[in-house]
Amino acid sequence: MSLFVKKSIKVLMEEAGDSEKGLKRTLSAGSLVALGIGAIIGAGLFVRTAAAAAQNAGPSVTLGFIVAAFGCALAGLCYAELSSSIPISGSAYTYTYATMGELLAWIIGWDLVLEYAVGAATVGIAWSEYLNNLLVQVLHMKPIAYAWCHSPFENSVPDVNGLVEHGMINLPALGIVAALSLLLIRGTQESAFVNGIIVITKVAIVILIIIFGWHFINPDNHTPYIPQPAVFTDHQGIDHNYGGIMGILGAAGVVFFAFIGFDAVSTAAQETKNPKTAMPIGILGSLAVCTVLYILFAHVLTGLAPVEFFRTTGKEASVVAAINTYMPGYAWLGKLVTVAILAGFSSVILVMLLGQSRVFYSMSRDGLLPKVFSDVHPKFKTPYKANLIILVLVGLFAAFVPGDIVGDMTSIGTLFAFILVCAAVIILRKTEPNLPRQFKTPWVPFVPILGIIVCAAMIFGLGWTNWLRLFGWLAIGFVIYFGYSRKNSRLNNPPD
Ligand code: ALA
Repeated sequence: MSLFVKKSIKVLMEEAGDSEKGLKRTLSAGSLVALGIGAIIGAGLFVRTAAAAAQNAGPSVTLGFIVAAFGCALAGLCYAELSSSIPISGSAYTYTYATMGELLAWIIGWDLVLEYAVGAATVGIAWSEYLNNLLVQVLHMKPIAYAWCHSPFENSVPDVNGLVEHGMINLPALGIVAALSLLLIRGTQESAFVNGIIVITKVAIVILIIIFGWHFINPDNHTPYIPQPAVFTDHQGIDHNYGGIMGILGAAGVVFFAFIGFDAVSTAAQETKNPKTAMPIGILGSLAVCTVLYILFAHVLTGLAPVEFFRTTGKEASVVAAINTYMPGYAWLGKLVTVAILAGFSSVILVMLLGQSRVFYSMSRDGLLPKVFSDVHPKFKTPYKANLIILVLVGLFAAFVPGDIVGDMTSIGTLFAFILVCAAVIILRKTEPNLPRQFKTPWVPFVPILGIIVCAAMIFGLGWTNWLRLFGWLAIGFVIYFGYSRKNSRLNNPPD
């Protein structure tokens, strides 16, 4: 049994062509861009931007966005080459299996759980923050009690009397994850349609905030643009590197979350019509649109309110809090954003749950996970059992872990996956030089190597607690691999 046994590209392509048994091909290039933007604009922009400004970089969070976008563009070019030459469900996992062998493929597949499952939980938690806004400001009802919409490891910022509330379980986050998992079981095409409508709304509100907010930018809030390096201790007693270069790198790692998702497009390759051309358009197109919007949005948000606001009263549902406090006369915009972003977050969760089930599907077809993960529903043609198991997994994270922690775990896990994808491009050019590539990454190996460096710098910026979480997660993965997957791998145990 070899740890480095590789899947041949030929076998991969044959498996993909075997669509009778597999998934339906229904998505076009246009729906892929929509799927991408659907996955991209979400909690990263509407929750993590303010967190990164408060904890890491102040107004220079915009520079963090530029670093993150740069890393994503480099990795995106690598993703595009791989997804156009290996148009198969499973994303980075599949590419790694073909290039670097089974153990690394397992590591990446396991790591992608951080990106998709833990990412979905993060956005579920953000959804829960904005739901309270909807209840109070739009529907004029009472908010959900702190204990029922926060993790047990979370306390509120002390109020004027110094009172602190404690979380118990995040029920709204759990509820939205469950509802969307059931929608996914109904089928990808239907979900992609709902997603299309939401994407348009989401892009529209981001543009509205940029246009209207621009007039309310207070230059004092942008001075100094890059704060002096210092240590900021938050209300839970956790230290963050604030200001200077480390602040910008830390912010880049945090807001990197906002870009996650463009790669989720590649996980739908097996359900795409004409994947060889549609994939690169889907991945790079959605990334380009979002980058421009993000930089402008972060500039406006940090110009509206001082950093102190995002550390205290504006800590939750920060964007609407800033609009309501610093844009007099624009309460309507706050309400609109609340409604639209709840729908917007839902589309992100949907794509992440979709990505997760497809990665598990591929791993299960390879024998690295039990068969239950690839059982396809006889009528809906979706991996419904996988969807249900993922519901439980994501639900646990959403209900019991704080948003900051799952957010940073998602970022670090995805950055690690990106590094392996960049490496895979270099390796595949050497091992499979004649493979038809519809899209070629320019300047190989320069672009992939630079991609590796920029992603590694963001991992560095995320700090040692997150490195430990990544190692811990990978350690659990090794136990499963050596305990189950290696013995059941189809490549390592071919049928007689
Ligand atoms: N990029 C996605 C978001 O920001 C994950 O919510």
